[in-house]
Amino acid sequence: MNTELVNTVKETFISKFNTDPLLVFSPGRINIIGEHTDYNDGFVFPAAVDKGIYVAIQKSTSQDCTVIALDLKEHINFSLQTLKPLEVGRWENYILGVVAEIKKAGKSIGNFNAVFKGDIPAGAGMSSSAALENSIVFSLNALFELKLSKEDMILISQKAEHNYAKVKCGIMDQYASMFGMENNALHLDCRNVTSKPYKINFKAYQLVLINTNVKHNLSDSAYNERRATCERISKLLNAKALRDVKEKDLERIKAQIPEEDYNKALYVIQENTRTINAAKAIAQNDLETLGRLIFESHKGLSTMYKVSCNELDFLVQEAKNSTVVLGARMMGGGFGGCTINLIEKEASKTFTETLAKAYKKTFNRDCSIYHVKLANGTHIINANNSF
Ligand code: GLA
Repeated sequence: MNTELVNTVKETFISKFNTDPLLVFSPGRINIIGEHTDYNDGFVFPAAVDKGIYVAIQKSTSQDCTVIALDLKEHINFSLQTLKPLEVGRWENYILGVVAEIKKAGKSIGNFNAVFKGDIPAGAGMSSSAALENSIVFSLNALFELKLSKEDMILISQKAEHNYAKVKCGIMDQYASMFGMENNALHLDCRNVTSKPYKINFKAYQLVLINTNVKHNLSDSAYNERRATCERISKLLNAKALRDVKEKDLERIKAQIPEEDYNKALYVIQENTRTINAAKAIAQNDLETLGRLIFESHKGLSTMYKVSCNELDFLVQEAKNSTVVLGARMMGGGFGGCTINLIEKEASKTFTETLAKAYKKTFNRDCSIYHVKLANGTHIINANNSF
């Protein structure tokens, strides 16, 4: 736990609102494999991490609600009676969206104040937005005794993202952030929203994230377009979702659809199979196979699903050229953010230092290296600041 952040949000809250807050942590997530499969009712393999959003929150007796985003040094005042989305891209939409969706679910809340701060950068593809949504719904559920289950809460967070942030996301991020388990990754079936935890034995390897520190424009609209394409194709095949489609089914309509749509659907079908195979490889402690599947995933994301970018492709290619990396791929929605890498522990420092130099030389920009631990999902932090 980041004690410094806990203390910062707590002290800021007390100095602004003169009362003791409830403290909640909600983690970001990584995803080992299974990208863009969640909204196709498929499989994903995420884990919550030890970095995320810390919120200090309490009921308020004033006429409206105040939420302070400490990282941005911004705040919003709003009334529970007049909720509407702000322009796309604003952080406030995550808060307003969650509150609106709680009301839509027939639950009633009173005014509140909150202060939040995080230790995952927005745009890193580590789901700081899902962490923020979950932190708000979870803490409001506790403060106002709403009796929402964790399943209810993640659906509220997801709807906030759909209706206020205007991204038609799947359920992976909110699920991983809410249900994460220390030292485990979750093999999640996005159709019935249940998961099996896997304790991964990384042996002489470790997971390292490398942030390109870029987030290209239009990523949200490209995301929504990809989802629409997948839905169009599954409809054409009378399937509920691409999860139900086999490669040979897709082959039958190949001539009727644009080649790029065919490639996108084929990617999803293959990625879903890779994710199932990854679970088998992990169960057998077969890191080589896992690594190979991770590289294949990137290739599909880049050349077929077309959600990568030069910076991500460069980082993955360098990893591929090296003998100390078993697997690497872009992670999350794409068009920037992080790659996830399975790197030999002993060689990790040298590899990432050399890579950072090459990245800087090529793009005139620094990349960032993150080491993360697989951690528990959204939870209240005790008064003594321990888990
Ligand atoms: C974003 C979305 C998720 C998922 C990934 C891609 O993180 O929020 O629902 O679709 O992209 O796998």
